Amino acid sequence: MKTRGFVLISLAGLVAAGGLSSGGYFWSVGHVRRWTGNPTLGFVSCTHCHGNDLSKTAWARPRPHHPAPAGLAVSPDGRRLYVALDDVDEVVEADAESLAILRRTAVAGGPFGLALDRSGRRLFVACRHQDRVAQLDLETFREVDSLFVGVEPVALAFTETPEGERLIVANSGSGDAAVLSLSPLKEVARPGTGREPFGVAVSPDGRHAWVMSRLAEPDLARGGASAHPAEAGFAHLFLPAAAELTHLSPAGGRVLRRVPLESAHLSEDLAFVPARGWVLAPLVKVRNLVPITQVANGWVMSSGLAVADLQGHVTQVPLDEANDYFADPAGLAVDAAGRRAYVASGGSDVITVVDLDRLAAWLEQADDATRREAIRDLSLSTEYVVARIPTGRNPRHLALSPDGRRLYVSVRLEDQVWAVDTERLTVVGKLVLGDGGDSDPIRRGERVFTKAAHTFQRQFSCRSCHPDGHVDGLAYDFDGDGIGDNLLDNRTLRGIDRTPPFKWNGKNPSLQVQCGPRFARVLMRTDPIPPAELEDLVRFLNSLPPARPRHFTELNKPLSPAAERGRQLFFATHRPDGTPIPIERQCQTCHRPPLFTNRLKTAVGTRGPRDLTDEFDTPHLLGVAASAPYLHDGRARTLEELWTTYQTNDLHGVSSYWSKHQLNDLIEYLKTL
Ligand code: HEC
Ligand code: HEC
Ligand code: HEC
Repeated sequence: MKTRGFVLISLAGLVAAGGLSSGGYFWSVGHVRRWTGNPTLGFVSCTHCHGNDLSKTAWARPRPHHPAPAGLAVSPDGRRLYVALDDVDEVVEADAESLAILRRTAVAGGPFGLALDRSGRRLFVACRHQDRVAQLDLETFREVDSLFVGVEPVALAFTETPEGERLIVANSGSGDAAVLSLSPLKEVARPGTGREPFGVAVSPDGRHAWVMSRLAEPDLARGGASAHPAEAGFAHLFLPAAAELTHLSPAGGRVLRRVPLESAHLSEDLAFVPARGWVLAPLVKVRNLVPITQVANGWVMSSGLAVADLQGHVTQVPLDEANDYFADPAGLAVDAAGRRAYVASGGSDVITVVDLDRLAAWLEQADDATRREAIRDLSLSTEYVVARIPTGRNPRHLALSPDGRRLYVSVRLEDQVWAVDTERLTVVGKLVLGDGGDSDPIRRGERVFTKAAHTFQRQFSCRSCHPDGHVDGLAYDFDGDGIGDNLLDNRTLRGIDRTPPFKWNGKNPSLQVQCGPRFARVLMRTDPIPPAELEDLVRFLNSLPPARPRHFTELNKPLSPAAERGRQLFFATHRPDGTPIPIERQCQTCHRPPLFTNRLKTAVGTRGPRDLTDEFDTPHLLGVAASAPYLHDGRARTLEELWTTYQTNDLHGVSSYWSKHQLNDLIEYLKTL
């Protein structure tokens, strides 16, 4: 291995030293043409295919960790506040009045969501990075039980049903909810939810539970009539997507109803309001099918609140104002009497206070048509939004004291929890957990990433389309992208270090260019991000690791027999009958490990009816299982569809000799990358 590295370096040196006119140039052009099978390629830097050891990526290197607050819980007597610190693997107990820290305990695996039992003796913790739920005994403040659940659990709720105590856990990575019985923790059911379930609410009588998913999916069931008269196989791209509110029976985990929230995404929380029989969820109203040039008209994204009743009727109402937006709604809290709702806007650093009596009065008098159109009328928010409370950077989770007089806010990128007096609507205290991380460029970059102030009227942040640096699963109409009159599938930012060029057209040589002035002109419609902030932003983007492909308990295990068979297909150089597979059609040529891309543009037969080009950037495949849909326009909803519905007559890898089982094997392998 060492000698080979040496040879490579010497050859690279030779090419450089000899100048590009020397034999080195011809050698390397010939070499690249040979190993890509593309006779038209010119000189390509050796780093496209060599020296990409994953340990050299920014995301594999250690980075500073911060005590950023995530989930909050207040004890039933209102005296204690619990705070989950996912990035430093700790849970903190504080005095709810003075905000003094009383105890800390280590909880491994990214403690993110918190829930208390009714007596306040047990604290349950959703550990996002280790796919488990931990139970802490609050007398000793020690972990006493733990159970593996689905992938990336982020939120959970406790309830007492006629059949016993239950925990409902939102597994954001596996798209399902774990229903657990207690003493000891045990899984009762695992109903499927929408994509990326992120919030859970229960009714006090233990008869209902709701899980809110964060990402929208094409609403195929309802889309027929509104389908664009587009080409067969592409029509679903032009349907509005919908996020799913899943209504469950908590005792047995049976799905009672699946409620679609049309054109809504990024809902990260929800609450049941017993006094009104409502389920409330903050949402981003996303109009991804509208040309992005409409940002200036306020048409791309706005934030709102979904009001669902027990029968699943939903009204979406705006939280924004005509010329000012409150991007990236995250946490939601409602007082026990159902008088007020509080919504944290993570992009605008504001808590919006909604008077639910006034909202109910408005809903009462509105007819069906007015309710349907409500979300478009931004002036409506003055009817029920009674205050906006400014916070520090990136408020996310919220919790109320049982008497509703204190609101606690996880001010995530400040490393603080703020306490708000809900009568005077003023900040009355701060629990300082860390220094905010000003000296860490990655943390500073995350602030840029989550800040809506860089967009016209603060309509959205990078996070609005790239939650957690990932995809939102939607395709957008970016004008003048050089690809054609079509939609462009969102691309994940996780694992992008060392994968330039960027964009599906492969035209952006660096992240600085990708996120620089042109981006500001087209997308944000404001001044470009200042250079120092842009550098921080790039550091942040490069620090994002690929999505974890497998369940925590499966990591470091050998591949399953099916995945191993799939691996052999991926690296196949010959068909089983001995016919060679041309080099330019072997998966490994273009998706060259370890990044699973050679960072070159290629034609693989995926040109769509509205595309102007055949050639697209070769995407890396690290964490690919989590970034559906696929291809530049997002036409393939699953990995399977790449080689079934959208197969390309062997232009995109030679697949015609595979059986259905072999395709399954290949997918199993892709899911491990
Ligand atoms: C488009 C991808 C690609 C690029 C760009 C590329 N190589 Fe390679 N190179 C390969 C492949 C594939 C092999 C076969 C062995 C392997 O898989 O590592 C290889 C093998 C080699 C070898 C082993 C001897 C041989 O020819 O099989 C050397 C030395 C080498 N490359 C040097 C370079 C240098 C120097 C550059 C930059 C001028 C470069 N390569 C650019 C793909 C590439
Ligand atoms: C309106 C939704 C939206 C917003 C807001 C948004 N992006 Fe994107 N992003 C996309 C889409 C869609 C693509 C794919 C576009 C393409 O390839 O031409 C993309 C592509 C990218 C890429 C290229 C990734 C690759 O591998 O090629 C980067 C980097 C990126 N975005 C970073 C950002 C940053 C940083 C911000 C905030 C400054 C941001 N995005 C805001 C939707 C968005
Ligand atoms: C000639 C180069 C080339 C070969 C060979 C190739 N791919 Fe691709 N692959 C691409 C390009 C380019 C795209 C993007 C095409 C588009 O967006 O229209 C792509 C897209 C993909 C995607 C979708 C990724 C996403 O994020 O949307 C997957 C998965 C994939 N390839 C896997 C494979 C597998 C498995 C094989 C072998 C059976 C293979 N590819 C062979 C170049 C190649």
